[in-house]
Amino acid sequence: MTKIIKISIVADMPIFKYPEPILRKTAKTISVFNDELKQLAQDMVAEMYKSDGVGLAAPQVGISQRLIVVNHGKEARVYINPEITYFSPDKKVGEEGCLSLPNIFGLVKRSKKIHLKYQDINGQVIREKIKGLDSIILQHEVDHLNGILFIDRAEKIVKGQDILDSLQNE
Ligand code: CO
Repeated sequence: MTKIIKISIVADMPIFKYPEPILRKTAKTISVFNDELKQLAQDMVAEMYKSDGVGLAAPQVGISQRLIVVNHGKEARVYINPEITYFSPDKKVGEEGCLSLPNIFGLVKRSKKIHLKYQDINGQVIREKIKGLDSIILQHEVDHLNGILFIDRAEKIVKGQDILDSLQNE
């Protein structure tokens, strides 16, 4: 498990908002694990904390690569080339929002448990069984890498339908 301690540097990364086309692209697999990648992960972690997000995917900061970070309170977790290899048939409906869709919330049904294969910041392959809130966050973030947004899966928009309508008519 790669852990990056919460850092105090305030990154200034733009958060790309719907309907920016980059949010609909399939992000590219990462094959080079270097200092630049570590810096990107750190900057994304800083941006996630600054924006008070529970997770952030690289396409949301304008980088179409398969990298996500997840908020774990005092620490953050970094997942490179994450792949969900199992979705439990047991599902749960929960309310979701997204930094790329501010002030819009919807009800999304997701698997309660997943199996995740990913690489850490050094390129080492790791497999984990994940449940609870982490499972939901990871499904949402992996969707970002495939150009999918929670509004595509939402059974119902519970807040911000008017905002969504105006964005979709832009
Ligand atoms: Co999101």
